[in-house]
Amino acid sequence: MTMQAIRGAAITFKADPFRHDWTEAVNHIPDALITIEDGVIVAVGPAAEGLATLGADVPVTHYPDAIICPGFIDAHVHYPQVQMIGAFGEQLLEWLEKYTFVAEQDFADAGHAETVAGVFLRELLRAGTTTAAVYCTVHPHSVDAFFAESSRFNTRMIAGKVMMDRNAPEALRDTVESGYHDSKALIEKWHGKGRQLYCITPRFAPSSSEAQLEAAGRLWREHPGTYVQSHLCENLGEVAWVRELFPERSSYIDVYDHAGLTGPRAIFGHAVHMDEEDFACCHRTGSALAHCPTSNLFLGSGLFKMFEAKRADRPVHVALGTDVGGGTSLSQLQSLNEAYKVAKLGGGTLTPAQGLYLATRGGAEALRLDDRIGSIEPGYEADLIVLDLKATPLMQFRQAYCRDLMETLFVLMTLGDDRAIRATYIAGAPVYDREREQQFIYPE
Ligand code: GUN
Ligand code: FE
Repeated sequence: MTMQAIRGAAITFKADPFRHDWTEAVNHIPDALITIEDGVIVAVGPAAEGLATLGADVPVTHYPDAIICPGFIDAHVHYPQVQMIGAFGEQLLEWLEKYTFVAEQDFADAGHAETVAGVFLRELLRAGTTTAAVYCTVHPHSVDAFFAESSRFNTRMIAGKVMMDRNAPEALRDTVESGYHDSKALIEKWHGKGRQLYCITPRFAPSSSEAQLEAAGRLWREHPGTYVQSHLCENLGEVAWVRELFPERSSYIDVYDHAGLTGPRAIFGHAVHMDEEDFACCHRTGSALAHCPTSNLFLGSGLFKMFEAKRADRPVHVALGTDVGGGTSLSQLQSLNEAYKVAKLGGGTLTPAQGLYLATRGGAEALRLDDRIGSIEPGYEADLIVLDLKATPLMQFRQAYCRDLMETLFVLMTLGDDRAIRATYIAGAPVYDREREQQFIYPE
């Protein structure tokens, strides 16, 4: 790829807005030129300066009336569940039995997995999400289907085969041995291949035996740089069940900690019903939490304690997850719309800077990828999105009354969804463009 530039208002973060005020945290360039070479950002600055030194042969794509920001990061999502998003009526454990475990059995068919992976990746890009931590199914070929499609788009994705050897239908169970060996083979096949990263994925404590959790911990130790993901303290019935299943352990997170499944690159979804000891364990081990507001509301799971998690004296890494199909939208703008309300019900106020940070740089930090993605700076991979502030008639009307950038961003988070994504760039390539006849194209 040769050199190119993108021009428009740009927003990125210099510091954590949970610790610093707006001016210290936010880097806003009203008319920026972002120069990209071979998929990597090489220069960022005011367009007036950048254009003066840019070679006359370098193509510039200009987006007036838009905001360019780093691609969104979704730290917890299930690709097989796009076919059952919006499944009615149940809380977590019944919802899993009635809908999830039924849908996931369809993935015994590799062709089905390929079809759904194709739909899912396109919907992510349409929503402006450029990196995600993704649960596949128990079937190894569900991972092959996902990483193959991700490789075609050149997206940086984190994903893995679900491990579960109990409390699930026979057709979705692996064993301690097969779960270990299948995951190991997938690590060898995919981890570090292009931009793909492997995530060891014991589904949640109730569906793995202690022996399987220990095998997962051993596998993780044997493959430094890989990830671990699971569910944690999502629903009160689930938390009580874990207490019954693991009577020797002091808490839900202690089950994972005991098995060697906590630490940097461990990502736990939900973490709604957490006490101080649980947060302290995450802080001590460097484990990250994925806040999944649309899902926690849809399944009636509860309210995540964001400001407790981020407490300055023992901060925990927090990212934002959609948790589709428990979640109701792949758009992180919609996650932020609900995250704001969840914070409000908990007595706090999530600022637009904090929200946008969670969806970009904060997510990258939680996933330990903040030296590569989540920012618009020289040296960073050019995963960028172009946000259209006037995507709908109501947004256009409402934005005219915004008095400053903070209000503008807040309205974007409240009213915005996939319609607000004008374009998505992956490593510099415009893989999605809302206005193009062929909206999705693989990079050359
Ligand atoms: N806990 C175990 N599996 C799942 C799942 O697929 N979705 C959610 N939301 N919680 C889970
Ligand atoms: Fe989940």
